[in-house]
Amino acid sequence: MLNSLHAILPWRLSAAVLHSRSFVANSADTLENLQAAFDGESNANARYLAFAQKAGKEGYGEVASLFRAVAKAEEFHARNHAAVIRQLGADLVAHIEHSKVRSTRENLQTVIEGEKVRARRDVSRIHRGRQATKGLGSDSPSL
Ligand SMILES: [Fe+2]
Repeated sequence: MLNSLHAILPWRLSAAVLHSRSFVANSADTLENLQAAFDGESNANARYLAFAQKAGKEGYGEVASLFRAVAKAEEFHARNHAAVIRQLGADLVAHIEHSKVRSTRENLQTVIEGEKVRARRDVSRIHRGRQATKGLGSDSPSL
């Protein structure tokens, strides 16, 4: 299980950095994207904390520590988005959803699948951001 989580961490962090840059490129949708990102990061933080608690209860202390570390990273991502939203003069909106917590093995599989989906989505946004900065359309779905 540890190898699976280690495998996604570097990939997730680099995607998050690039993901933030893509929001700035699409100025018309910036606030809406920031709010969605803040919501997503806030939910990710809550989900990873719940998974950490479950891993601890199941005796997987190292997995619990890794989930807490990822939760902390998500908290910082949310804080960064929140700071920009406040600078734009908007109110923060986060809809925290109840995290479905299963066994630690299943939780890890859920995380891996979720990260794959988010990575594909983020790459799409990054690509559209590059097009926008080159004057080829602000939100073209073509890839
Ligand atoms: Fe994040």
